Amino acid sequence: MKKKRNTVFDCSIIDISKVHTISGNITVVENDKNIPFAVKRIYYLYDVPGGELRGGHAHYELEQFIVAASGSFDVIINDGTNRKRVSLNRPNLALHVVPGLWRELDNFSSGSICLVLASHIYEESDYIRDYNSFLDFAKR
Ligand code: TYD
Repeated sequence: MKKKRNTVFDCSIIDISKVHTISGNITVVENDKNIPFAVKRIYYLYDVPGGELRGGHAHYELEQFIVAASGSFDVIINDGTNRKRVSLNRPNLALHVVPGLWRELDNFSSGSICLVLASHIYEESDYIRDYNSFLDFAKR
């Protein structure tokens, strides 16, 4: 039977909510509470030169929460048929990226920090880095 592929419509912006105090805000992510997968890895992109494009790949299994911890940037998600540009600019908003989608990140503001919470440790074998291979995968 043909396996159902994820689409860009399976991704959503999740409001992680925040604890507001007069001296600033705290946003908390806790496994089994407010994230739909168990976090195994955290990484962040920073010092991204203006005009730079990141990403440009898909993952077979990896699920991610992508957060603009500081500044702003756009994430372009693509399921091989539909393409959606999502602008992130608040530390309490996470884009939930489901597995099997091509993603690119651009429009990084100066000093921005892209925080990524990921469902698996780093494994190069989970990447699809060639766009035509991704389109073949997405069509199957
Ligand atoms: P990559 O995931 O391609 O970066 P981006 O999607 O942000 O453009 O990774 C860039 C490089 O960093 C690549 O050589 C692999 C390495 N890397 C790790 O070693 N561990 C990790 O957890 C990640 C995300 C990347």
